[in-house]
Amino acid sequence: MNSLEQLVTDAQADFLAAADAAALENAKAKYLGKTGQITELMKGMGKLPPEEKRAQGALINAAKVQIENALGARREAQAEAQMQARLNFEAIDVTLPGRGRGKGGIHPVMRTWERVEEIFRSIGFDVADGPEIETDWYCFTALNSPENHPARSMQDTFYIDGKDSDGKPLLLRTHTSPMQVRYARMHQPPIKVIAPGRTYRVDSDATHSPMFHQVEGLWIAEDISFADLKGIYLNFVKTFFETDDLQIRFRPSYFPFTEPSAEIDIAFGSGPLKGRWLEVSGAGQVHPTVVRNYGLDPEKYVGFAFGSGLERLTMLRYGINDLRLFYEGDLRFLKQFN
Ligand code: DAH
Repeated sequence: MNSLEQLVTDAQADFLAAADAAALENAKAKYLGKTGQITELMKGMGKLPPEEKRAQGALINAAKVQIENALGARREAQAEAQMQARLNFEAIDVTLPGRGRGKGGIHPVMRTWERVEEIFRSIGFDVADGPEIETDWYCFTALNSPENHPARSMQDTFYIDGKDSDGKPLLLRTHTSPMQVRYARMHQPPIKVIAPGRTYRVDSDATHSPMFHQVEGLWIAEDISFADLKGIYLNFVKTFFETDDLQIRFRPSYFPFTEPSAEIDIAFGSGPLKGRWLEVSGAGQVHPTVVRNYGLDPEKYVGFAFGSGLERLTMLRYGINDLRLFYEGDLRFLKQFN
């Protein structure tokens, strides 16, 4: 074998031995690079006499073409092997079960919200929605809350930057009661509405969350009395808790927007909470000042209002003792309601 043939054989062997693209480039440099062996041979031709130059040139060129072909073949083989390895690695096993799509569920408090709407709609109540950012007037003043009422203090209420047209600070509504006034000012009596929604207070422990839900109820006409409140609310809790075996009591209380005012308690006749009085709502006959702020004549129109906590109703229905569970987002807890 002459030295050129040897060179070609060596190059082929080197290329074959190159395990990856980088090794192959190094091997290529050894033969075809600036100081590679083929390149050096080409340079050496200058010294040859012209008649040898031609023949020798042809031989070197042939060797160079062979080496380049070997290089190209090896490059292709490497790329092919790499693709194959990747295909193997990324292969999809079509026999595996699919991942499926995560199925969402309804939050327990939302479930209560929907049930409350359904129950009150079935007895002719409208359902209204309103702003969570409220003005001082709707949240407090219109509801007859005195300037020094604790609900107005910074410790109890989230005030936000920005003022209303009276120059008073805006706030996150502390209850759904402002919806009484908003709704009544836009509708003619008889007014029969519930307004469920989010409410906010600076409060956080096992039974309080800074964001929580209430449902406001309002029935105003010419002849609506406390007896109607009793009937409506008793019917509501019996339907909601799916039992006739419960009692209801109205405990005297104070709210600026009602007179008389009451706290509504219920007691189950059976079950784990049997016989205990549990508070579920504030309520009362709407104060004449508030009726006036509805834009109505309190001599002509009377009625009742109530405000119940949706978390509280949910906790009693399912026997949950820590309200924070609702907002931790723990699927182990939430899945139980779906
Ligand atoms: N807004 C009251 C609260 O958040 C609850 C309430 C009490 C609403 C009596 C009423 C009512 O409509 O008549 O504590």
